[in-house]
Amino acid sequence: MADYVLAIDQGTTSTRAMIFDKSGSVVSVGQKEHEQIFPRAGWVEHDPLEIWRNTQEVIGLALSRADITRHDIAAVGITNQRETAVVWDKNTGKPVYNAIVWQDTRTQSIVDRLADGDPERYKSIVGLPLATYFSGTKIVWILENVDGAREKAEAGDLLFGTTDTWVLWNLTGGTDGGVHATDVTNASRTLFMDLETLSWREDILADFGVPASMLPEIRSSSEVYGTVESSSLLRETPIAGILGDQQAATFGQAAFDPGESKNTYGTGNFLIFQTGEEIVHSKNGLLTTLGYKLGDQPARYALEGSIAVTGSLIQWLRDQLGIISSAPEVEALASSVDDNGGVYFVPAFSGLFAPYWRSDARGAIVGMTRYVNKGHIARAALEATAFQSREVLDAVNADSGVDLEELKVDGGMTANDALMQFQADILGVPVVRPVVAETTALGAAYAAGLAVGFWDNLDDLRANWQEDKRWEPRMDADERERELRLWKKAVTKSMDWID
Ligand code: G3P
Repeated sequence: MADYVLAIDQGTTSTRAMIFDKSGSVVSVGQKEHEQIFPRAGWVEHDPLEIWRNTQEVIGLALSRADITRHDIAAVGITNQRETAVVWDKNTGKPVYNAIVWQDTRTQSIVDRLADGDPERYKSIVGLPLATYFSGTKIVWILENVDGAREKAEAGDLLFGTTDTWVLWNLTGGTDGGVHATDVTNASRTLFMDLETLSWREDILADFGVPASMLPEIRSSSEVYGTVESSSLLRETPIAGILGDQQAATFGQAAFDPGESKNTYGTGNFLIFQTGEEIVHSKNGLLTTLGYKLGDQPARYALEGSIAVTGSLIQWLRDQLGIISSAPEVEALASSVDDNGGVYFVPAFSGLFAPYWRSDARGAIVGMTRYVNKGHIARAALEATAFQSREVLDAVNADSGVDLEELKVDGGMTANDALMQFQADILGVPVVRPVVAETTALGAAYAAGLAVGFWDNLDDLRANWQEDKRWEPRMDADERERELRLWKKAVTKSMDWID
């Protein structure tokens, strides 16, 4: 009898394998970072072969740390960084170019060309504005810039996938019968999927010049896609769940019903608000996206506020500015000063995502005086995460017409107590973290476990959710309003920067 489910979390900075038991507790973890490749300003790439090697390695690590074998694993779930695009040759299994990461802004001219003056031209169909963030324009860049790619794609030799698809295809045998599929949540981030029919739109593909033969089959988030190939430590284990990482975190937080939500603090921040079977179009800069789809059951939709840069700003303080030597040190440095010293840091490194969608914005540090030291910069960097989340929450409240009464949070930065307190202060509502803060991997495990009967239903999963910590707002309303006013003023300074 298999007592565990294994989840692969193919994230922006690392790949992890995590093993969970029936109570949703973490049994073991294997994790490996991969290289962040920055060939030019605004370009961000990953090596898909390195990601695949790491995937195999972390599976081995997780199994050996738990001291179990494939016979103990009921199913495998996959979750992933979402819009990152991989294009590979189906005959050789080799990528024709590095993966172009969701943060990459090189496709701005393709976006402008396709928008033809109206960046929202597909929004009512796909839920997204035209923006460099989504995978569709990244495929176009590869077809237009990699020698021979267009010819090969038109001959039916190239496949596209987000990293869930890349991992699934390789895990199920690659050139030897690999399954080329994705789930609805990942498909909803391409710019190509019709939200109502859950199928690729031939007319949009034609506008983009992307051959339909490159695209994976769209499946639900919880069903058996295939089994692991015979040379793997996990051979013959069913792969039974796929969810984009933000949707997975929502699922892992047991936020299944309309009105339920979560905010994940990763390299970026992503707030997802479930809207049930209803497709809600935002009037306030949010995306309409798929929440999840369990087998043959109806799809569940969601609104999303995506923020490009939060945790990666702390990495930037460490790697590019060198004012801390490890990410957790930021808390002590930020606490070495009493306040932000009048400094506001708008980290628009990839332009601004929700609720602004301004690709012409770039990072700005404003309010500088001779008084300011590195503690103030660190503090302003942390506060930026909380301010951006507040703006997204305002958009969710405005779109839904109901004010959220508390915010469920997860992800690495929720370990930062000072940040979570400031978040509650700036929101004016409590912030709540569950015991298992690894909700992304947990969500993928849940989707896989449900498909194979490891868990029976959503109530089983709800019963696993437990509160760990709660931060109550302490800041007085006048101060909150003043901080927000200054933040919004700083945001205006970051806009209209690109010529
Ligand atoms: O949309 C991008 C998101 O899926 C990336 O998440 O946690 O890998 O930074 P993360």
